[in-house]
Amino acid sequence: MELLIINGPNLNLLGKREPDIYGNQSFEAYLAQLKKQFPDIELTYYQSNVEGELINEIQIAGFSMDGIILNAGAYTHTSIAIADAIAAIATPVVEVHISNVYARESFRHHSYLSPHCKGCIIGFGMKGYELAIRSFLEE
Ligand code: DQA
Repeated sequence: MELLIINGPNLNLLGKREPDIYGNQSFEAYLAQLKKQFPDIELTYYQSNVEGELINEIQIAGFSMDGIILNAGAYTHTSIAIADAIAAIATPVVEVHISNVYARESFRHHSYLSPHCKGCIIGFGMKGYELAIRSFLEE
């Protein structure tokens, strides 16, 4: 099982960024934990702040990986291009948000990506990535 986690803009600042919303842990530290937790899964990680780079990665992984776990950050609420990329690929995508976007500003309530995703995991903190991995295992 090969899964790719993709994080979008500003998620490289996890641990430093608005810790009251996103917690104190860096994604690298959390990823090390995940890899220990799921030793049988080939788990790779990609992060970019650039919309086109995220699309390139989705296209590359989208015909070879078993699953993509995507937190597109604010592009979730703006990017028709990322939505089109998800619709174009064969690999199923699970959308993750660390915070409960529905409890926040109204501009975070709409996702262009959700209609093209297999499912969405929202508001469970970093644990959302673990839940997304489990969603691929329990098929
Ligand atoms: C986020 C929610 C988005 O609204 C925000 O722009 C982010 C992070 C989350 O994980 O809660 O950058 O995707």
